[in-house]
Order: sequence, then structure tokens, then C-alpha cells
Amino acid sequence: MNKKLLDKVNKRRTFAIISHPDAGKTTITEQMLLLGGVIRSAGTVKARKTGNYATSDWMEIEKKRGISVTSSVMQFEYEGKRINILDTPGHQDFSEDTYRTLMAVDAAVMVIDSARGIEPQTKKLFKVVRQRGIPVFTFMNKLDRDGREPLDLVAELEDVLGIEGVAMNWPIGMGQTMKGLYDIANHRIELYHPADADHRFLPLNEAGRLDPDQPLADDPQYLDTMDEIELLEGAGAEFDREAVLAGKQTPVFFGSALTNFGVETFLQSFVDLAPAPAAHVVNETETLAPDDDEFSGFIFKIQANMNPQHRDRIAFVRVCSGEFSKGLDVTLARTGKPVRLNNAVEFESSARVQVSEAVAGDIVGLYDTGNFQIGDSIYAGKHKVEFAPLPEFTPELFMRVSPKNVMKQKSFHKGMNQLVQEGAVQLYRNYQTEDYILGAVGQLQFEVFQYRMKNEYNSDVEMTSLGHRVARWIDPDQLDPKMSSSRNLLVKDRFGNPLFLFENAFAERWFHDKYPDVKLTEKL
Ligand code: G4P
Repeated sequence: MNKKLLDKVNKRRTFAIISHPDAGKTTITEQMLLLGGVIRSAGTVKARKTGNYATSDWMEIEKKRGISVTSSVMQFEYEGKRINILDTPGHQDFSEDTYRTLMAVDAAVMVIDSARGIEPQTKKLFKVVRQRGIPVFTFMNKLDRDGREPLDLVAELEDVLGIEGVAMNWPIGMGQTMKGLYDIANHRIELYHPADADHRFLPLNEAGRLDPDQPLADDPQYLDTMDEIELLEGAGAEFDREAVLAGKQTPVFFGSALTNFGVETFLQSFVDLAPAPAAHVVNETETLAPDDDEFSGFIFKIQANMNPQHRDRIAFVRVCSGEFSKGLDVTLARTGKPVRLNNAVEFESSARVQVSEAVAGDIVGLYDTGNFQIGDSIYAGKHKVEFAPLPEFTPELFMRVSPKNVMKQKSFHKGMNQLVQEGAVQLYRNYQTEDYILGAVGQLQFEVFQYRMKNEYNSDVEMTSLGHRVARWIDPDQLDPKMSSSRNLLVKDRFGNPLFLFENAFAERWFHDKYPDVKLTEKL
């Protein structure tokens, strides 16, 4: 055990925020960056989202659409801890990168709009987080507006996501009538409208009640809350740290990111309860301790052309053990070739700075000249470390693609191969015609593909949308090409495995009815 290294590792908190678009992810991220002192005024992160972002080194397409194409990393110090927030793009820029980012974090924060409850994208992302078994911390946002009943929101976690919610605080009123939060975990009341900053919190007595001389003690909202607290004490889940760390229970916090209410309490609890980087699973028989002396890490994302002037690519590495230092010599597990890591950056809010020190939990960006692929492991020392491959995520959107100029097949194939290898899109071939079909999780992946084909490989491509499709793999032994019909398209993935792209869930059910003995599988 390396005590010095372990002390550093134990200070790391690396997480991603999962939410449905508009639930408040950007707003809460911004409040956290403010609390961490990395930005000085609200609106910085937001400006990037809305396209008023001044830094010029984002892809042209990103500037045009005013969104971030791929997830970035935000790093700051808070209460003696080093926080790494990995951004998970939503909206149209939702992509496989969004999912893969969840492979590189130790915890997730789930932001829910308290008027809307659990929405589809949250469900999708939660599914990935659940598979990893990492802890999830829930923030019920927008308490300054009228929302759904808190009890209802907590119950929905269990009903829809199958995770037990345990209340850490509870609203006193909501919307116009909001008075504050009953802070169960810290045994106090947090006021929404304190007289001044020094009087934000009111103490509770032994019985967990306000002293009767407090004006709020007669308030109908407060009294309602107390009834609910009694109910929770009788029937609600009890906080169980082990269950939280195992991803079986989620601590639930209420608040309002926009008015910066409850965010600090949330962040404090999160930093306290969320796990530091743990041993990383290498394969079925081997794990690697984060304080292992030798450096290791894996690449979970590659972003090209972050700076169009330099045509650079950055490979994002999640450090799993040891310590990164400039000029470190590592081996790329896939090829066995040595690589010297001379040029690396870490991320402080929006700026990129040279890496000073990175240990397990930290993210390092390596300038890449084409050495790396998504999922690659790198390690220092003699003992080979190769982490389990990253899961592939089943695309939902499909496009038929061909070169506009048939004379330029060569550049078309080169670009296609490289971008597919990089994990920018998934490639399929029509079973009969061998036509190229691309699959993606989000629409923007296609636009980025088209843009990069033109700009990096000088290949104009024709794309025809096949729309949303349900991809299901079939055992090759059960396949009869006659099963293909107008409602499904038979294709093969890049490993040659056959799969059907069904028009919709109805077409899939119809297939099941027609071929009850045929087993179809969803990848994820
Ligand atoms: P996202 O990143 O999850 O997509 O959400 P984002 O933070 O951009 O928030 C989406 C909208 O919800 C924004 O309003 C934001 O101001 C608002 N919002 C976020 N947190 C709260 C909250 O606690 N209370 C209330 N009332 N609103 C909240 P917008 O009108 O879409 O954008 P803007 O006009 O503020 O730029």
C-alpha cells in the first residue's frame, strides 16, 4: 500500500450528472462550480450551452449549434476534495459518448425536475448507471415552482427505476409558499428566505422540532412537513450507507438550482458520502488497487479537432492506478507498443492546462496522433493491465450512407473505417446489398460524422435517414433470410453478426408472434 498515494486518491470524487434535458443539469453544475470557486458569476456554463461561449477551440459545428458536441470535464477543489465532474451531453447532442462517460465515474448525480418526475432520458442513463452498480445521489430540482408531491416523487424512484429513495431533507412548502427544507441528515432547518446569510439555518430540538418560540413553528407549511416527517419516520426507508454505495438506495435531496437553494447542502453531503475511487475491475479474476504504484488507465472518449487550427485529437483517459506524470512511458495494451505521454492536459472548468498531478479518479486528456482507440488500456511497468472492453450501446437511429462522388471511394472507406474505429458511429452492412448503414444513439453523431468526413477525409457523403429503429440481434443458426420483410431490415454488424432493424416495437412483436422459437437479443 502506498500511503501518500492513497491519501490523494481518497480526496477524489469523480461523478457525472444524469438527467433529462431541461431538468437543470447545467444550472446545478454552474452552482457547484461557483461553490468551488472556479467561476465567479452564474451564466458561464450556460453561455457555452447557448452559444455565447467565447473560447474558440470548439468544433465549428458545436459553435454553430451552440451546444457541446462531446462531454467535457470540469475539475475543482471543494472542502479539501478534488472534484471531477464529467459532463454528459443531452438534447440533440446525446450520443454514445454520453453513455461511455458513465464508465469513467465513481458516482452519479441524478437531477429530476420535481414538476415532471422521472423522464425518458433519465431512465436510459439510469439503466447504464445501474449496470455499473455505482451510487446515485438524487436532487429533486425546481422546488421554487409548484411541483409534484414529495412523497409521490420518492415513491416514483422505486416504482419506475426500482431503486429505494431515502429522504435526506424534505421541503417545507413549494413554489410560492416555499419556506425552506427540513434537513433530516443535518438535524436543522434551512430557510429559503433567511434574514441574512448568517441565519440560514435554524436548529432543531431533541425531538427534531423547532422551538415553539420560532415564528415558523406555527406555519401551516411547517406543520404539514412535520406530519410528513412523522410518516417518513414510520414508513420511509432508513439511510443505509452500504446500500447507497452498492447502488441499491439513493439519498434524495430537494432544492432549487436556479435560486441556489439546497445545492450547497447537497454538495457537502455528496462529497462526504460519495466514494473515492475504488479498486478497478480488470477482468473476472483481477482487480487493481487505486494506490498501486504503477500507473494505469483506460480511454473512454476521443474528441477530434478540439482546436481546428491544430487538427488535434484528445483521448480522455480515466486514471485507475498510480500517478500520472509528464513524459511517462506506458504500454498500449492492445498493441503492446510503448507510448511516451508527453503532451497531456487536465481540465479546469473551461480552460485546458498542463497536467500537474493526476491519480486514480482523475481524467487526463492526451493529445493523440492516431495511436488510441476508445476502450484502450494503457499501463506503466511490466505487468500488463488490460481493462474489460467498454460496453457497446445499441443505436436507435439509423442512416443509409454512400459517397456522393463514386470516384472517391478510397477516401470514403478510409474515413469511414477510422471514424467507426474511433467509436463515433456504429457501422452495419445490409445483409443482401452490402449497403452501408450507420447507427447512432443521437442525431448529432450523424452530423459530426458527415462534417468530419468532409473536413478530415475530403469525402462528401449522402445520408438517407431510416429513422428510429429497434435493433435486435439473432442467433446466426436461427437465421433464415426470408425472415426479412418490409417491416424490418436485415443487416450485419461490423463483426458479421446478423441483426434486424425493426420499424418499431409493434414490428418486433409481430416478428415474435410469427417466429415464436426465434430468440432476439438487445445488446445492452
Ligand atoms: P439542462 O442542463 O438539464 O438542460 O437544464 P438547464 O440547467 O439549462 O435548465 C433548464 C431550464 O430550467 C432553464 O430555464 C433553467 O433556468 C431552469 N431551471 C433550472 N433549475 C431551476 C430551478 O431550480 N428552478 C426553476 N424555476 N427553474 C430552473 P430556461 O428558461 O430554459 O433557460 P434560461 O432562460 O434560464 O436560460
